[in-house]
Amino acid sequence: METRHFLTLNSFSRDELLSIINRASALKKQVKEKNYDTTLNNRVLGMIFEKSSTRTRVSFEAGMAQLGGHAIYLSPTGSQIGRGEPIEDTARVLSKMVDCIMLRTFEHERLETFASYSDVPVINGLSDSFHPCQLLADLLTYYENRGSIEDKKVVWLGDGNNMCHSYMNAAKIFNFQLTVACPEDYEPDAGLLETTKQYVSIERDPMTAVKNADLVVTDVWASMGQEQEQNQRMKQFAPYQVNTDLMECANGDALFMHCLPAHRGEEVSEAVLEGPQSVVWEEAGNRLHSQKALLEFLLC
Ligand code: CP
Ligand code: NVA
Repeated sequence: METRHFLTLNSFSRDELLSIINRASALKKQVKEKNYDTTLNNRVLGMIFEKSSTRTRVSFEAGMAQLGGHAIYLSPTGSQIGRGEPIEDTARVLSKMVDCIMLRTFEHERLETFASYSDVPVINGLSDSFHPCQLLADLLTYYENRGSIEDKKVVWLGDGNNMCHSYMNAAKIFNFQLTVACPEDYEPDAGLLETTKQYVSIERDPMTAVKNADLVVTDVWASMGQEQEQNQRMKQFAPYQVNTDLMECANGDALFMHCLPAHRGEEVSEAVLEGPQSVVWEEAGNRLHSQKALLEFLLC
């Protein structure tokens, strides 16, 4: 049987993604009750991080431990990959030792190359282009708070980045309308816009964009690897800050999400991040449950 990888949300069908979200809810209950299924007994996950992480690392590591398995952390500088060992070699070697590999890296093509040389499932733990694991958690959070996301209006504010691209994929798979409010020159990928155009629109004016929104989402203005552009971006993105004035234009029961880490006073105000519509802490916690369900899906 062909090895399944999770490189973008499109790696799985809608039904498969929904089954992962449902299983994540059940696994979440188990954590509350401290009564864990050890479905991944003796299984090992290798985690390669070429960029920093808090949530992704801890959720995968804790998740593997709770399921009876083990996770190995390879840091950007502490492995031979950081000293230039080819990704193709690392993929083939790790495939002989572990059951699944999570990779956080820069160019998405690097992840695709890695997967093509791996005999075991490869999970995208974030690339420059996509962050599908975060979407599993965001979708779980929406379903738990509001039910189905189908036909809802989701508004993305800020950079047309990796998270925005994953929301675009989600819009097409789950049939919701996504409005992307971004400054000129920071639009999402043109090719992806073309293939998702039935579900995704671009709106320059943030207040217009958030009208009738059921879910408002943002992310940092400069992603990992773009730190040198931070000052320039601050000026261009300033009108797109999610603050209480903006949230007042959305539906009264709209939720606010952010994958974190957040920069208070930049892409989101303190009042919104800590306010009653924000579900960011629950969303972060859901990384654990949704990725446990993902690991089971790939390995059981
Ligand atoms: N949201 C997210 O992926 O967080 P980390 O960078 O801390 O893993
Ligand atoms: N867009 C952000 C997401 C961090 C989880 C980045 O790539 O840095």
